[in-house]
Amino acid sequence: MVNELKNIENISIKNFQEDLISWFKAEQRDLPWRKDQDPYKVWVSEIMLQQTRVDTVIPYFNRFIEWFPTIEDLANANEDKVLKAWEGLGYYSRVRNLHSAVKEVNTKYDGKVPDTPKEISNLKGVGPYTAGAILSIAYGIPEPAVDGNVMRVLSRILSIWEDIAKPSTRKVFEEAVRQVISHDEPSAFNQALMELGALICTPTSPSCLLCPVRDHCQGFHEGVETELPIKTKKNTQRNVELAAIIVKDDNGKILIHKRPENGLLANLWELPNVELHQPIVMERAQIADLFSETFDMNIKLEKNIGQIEHIFSHLVWNIRLYIGTIGAGFSENNEWKFITLDEIEQHAFPVSFHKMLKLYKEYI
Ligand code: ADE
Repeated sequence: MVNELKNIENISIKNFQEDLISWFKAEQRDLPWRKDQDPYKVWVSEIMLQQTRVDTVIPYFNRFIEWFPTIEDLANANEDKVLKAWEGLGYYSRVRNLHSAVKEVNTKYDGKVPDTPKEISNLKGVGPYTAGAILSIAYGIPEPAVDGNVMRVLSRILSIWEDIAKPSTRKVFEEAVRQVISHDEPSAFNQALMELGALICTPTSPSCLLCPVRDHCQGFHEGVETELPIKTKKNTQRNVELAAIIVKDDNGKILIHKRPENGLLANLWELPNVELHQPIVMERAQIADLFSETFDMNIKLEKNIGQIEHIFSHLVWNIRLYIGTIGAGFSENNEWKFITLDEIEQHAFPVSFHKMLKLYKEYI
């Protein structure tokens, strides 16, 4: 056994499994993706739950399944509608990958989500965590599903002091799960670890007195539960200064722009915007020139109506919002169009857009 896992010898695996699983069966939350074992629904839920809280995901999941009840429905859906279903959830590459992987399942596997680690891991956006979650929850296959929450829980139970910020550490925890997972009930076992992480073994103040597996927990016995997991700090977020503009046509419609098909927030719609290169403080006329050069159109800025901040995991956008005008000669195309406020509903925008729109509505 690898040295990091030497504490597995200190627990009775059978008793640990029983205590964990019986607690899960009695206490699990009533969540919409737990109503059946449909691998498609498990898949959608697990992708949504990456980087997003359960409470936030529930309404998105219900609406997504209502709009696209089956693999076939999602495979045949228009990308704009799929993006709209995800609007506000963030990390939009998740849904683009899901959409393209679902198309592959529909054609290559006749609409049935594959049930082998090799095939499922080859699907776009399906990493080791998602593969393990689908295989165990939907198909009852004893594969590990290790995310940050599971690493936190197991680092405490097995007193594992590896740095969970390091990508290579996940393998240590996968090996731990392989050694302790229930082969009779892998679905309940993996979900119980997730549930324990959400309800009891929380990041800063775990409720050890209520914990169903406290008797097995090496971290608790050693009094080090709050020192674990070991997680070194990531690099701090980068600050990006942007200017965005509201341009209206004669009918009061607003000009929007489609983002490129690759990169951050790909294919979502936005207000026209440019990056202001720090640390120079730019005047309005200079910003207008930057717009005109970037988009090859004649833009004028009339007034600054405020500023919003939007935080991503790796960067922070500080966006100054302007009202402005566009010169004659502009014409609409696939990337540029004027829309009414009502038509906003038919397009997917980043959350930062809605913040700017709110600012604008307060202004007018
Ligand atoms: N977090 C990640 N996957 C989950 C699931 N299936 N249920 C609840 N929380 C989760």
